[in-house]
Amino acid sequence: MNAVEIKKDIFWTGVKDWNIKEFHGYTTPHGTTYNAYLIKDEKITLIDGVKHYLSHENIARIKSIVDFSNISYIVINHVEMDHSGNIPELMKLAPQAKIITNNAGKLALEAHFDTTGWQYEIVKTGDSVSIGKHTLAFMTTPMLHWPDSMMTYIPEEKLLLSNDGFGQHYASDALFVKDAPFDSVMEHAKSYYANILFPFGSQAEKALNTAGDLGLDIEMIAPSHGLIWNGKEEVGAILNNYCKWACGGNEGKAVIVYDTMWGATATMADVAMAVFQDAGIPVVKHCLAVKDVSEIMPDFLDAKYVVIGNPTLNNQLFPRIAAFVTYMRGLAPKNKTALAFGSYGWKAGVVKQIQAIYEELGWQTVEPFEEKYTPKSDVLEKFRQRVEELIKL
Ligand code: FEO
Repeated sequence: MNAVEIKKDIFWTGVKDWNIKEFHGYTTPHGTTYNAYLIKDEKITLIDGVKHYLSHENIARIKSIVDFSNISYIVINHVEMDHSGNIPELMKLAPQAKIITNNAGKLALEAHFDTTGWQYEIVKTGDSVSIGKHTLAFMTTPMLHWPDSMMTYIPEEKLLLSNDGFGQHYASDALFVKDAPFDSVMEHAKSYYANILFPFGSQAEKALNTAGDLGLDIEMIAPSHGLIWNGKEEVGAILNNYCKWACGGNEGKAVIVYDTMWGATATMADVAMAVFQDAGIPVVKHCLAVKDVSEIMPDFLDAKYVVIGNPTLNNQLFPRIAAFVTYMRGLAPKNKTALAFGSYGWKAGVVKQIQAIYEELGWQTVEPFEEKYTPKSDVLEKFRQRVEELIKL
C-alpha cells in the first residue's frame, strides 16, 4: 500500500472509502475518499488525516515514504472527523510533530480529542512556514464550512491543498480528474457544493476573492475528497463553477418537488410541469418516493423557480416532504421564486408551513394552492393560472 507522488516530493497518502453510502444526511452512492498528503522536505510535513476506520491505510502509505520519527509538522486544515479522526493515532506515532492549524482549529481539536502534550504553530491568512525547498502559505476560510476551515498553498508548485473546497464524494481508482469522465467529476463536484457548501456562498465568494488578493497562481487543486484538478483548464473550470454557484445566480430553470398518496398532488405536479414546458422554461420534476433529497439539491443551483407539493397526512406535512424542506431550509438556497401547493382530505392549511420556509429564506412567492381530495378540471385550471402567475413574478 504505497503513497502516490502527485508532484515532485509531494505524495497522496489518502484512503478511499468505497462503501460509504451516507455522509451526515448526504447520500453518496459512489462512496468518497479522504485525501491526505505528505511533503518530503527538510521538515517532513503531513497535510490532514483521514477517517478513523481507514487510519491503517493512511499510516501504511506514510510509512512507504518516511519514518514517523522524522515527521516535523502535521497541517490540519479542518477538524471535521473525516479528516481528523486518526490525528490522535498519528500524534502517538509522531509525538515530536508540531500541529499547524489556526486558532479555531486548535479549539476544535481540544474539543474533540485529548490533546495533552500536543504542540502547535498557530497560523492565519497570509502566514507562511518554510519547510525547506517548499513554503506552506495559509488561507483561513472560516465557515467554508466550519469555523476552523483552512487551505494550504505551496507556491513553488502552484498547488492548492483545498481540503473540503472543490471536493467530490467520488471514490474511483483514479487520482486525477483527467483519468475519469470529466462531466461526471463535475457533476459530483456540483452535488458536493449543493449538499455541503450551499449555505456558505458568501464565504466561498470571499475565499475566491482572498485567493485573488493573495495573487495565488494555481495549477493544481488537491482537495480532501475525490479527484485532483490538474492544469489550468481543469482548475479554471472548477474555479469558474464555484464563482457561479457561490454568487447565487441561476440558469432560470424550474424544479418541482412533490410526494403523493392517491395521485392528487402528482396530478398537480404534472400540471405545473406542463406550464413551465409551455413557457419554454427548463424544468425537472422529482417525486420523493423515488428520489433522495441529496440527489435533488444540485438542481437548486440552476433553479429560479421552486414548486413544492405536499399531500397532507394526519394534518401534517407528508414525512418525506417534511424531511426534504428541513434539509433544503438548512442549505438555504437564495434568490428563488416559489409556490407551495398540496392536497388534503378534511383539514386545509398545512402547505402554509412550506410557505413560511420560503418566506424565511427571503424568496419571492405567490399564494399557496391547496385542493380537497381529487382536483377536478376547473381546479386544475385555477392551479395552472397560479403557476403562470409565479412565472410572471
Ligand atoms: Fe470533509 Fe467538512 O469534512
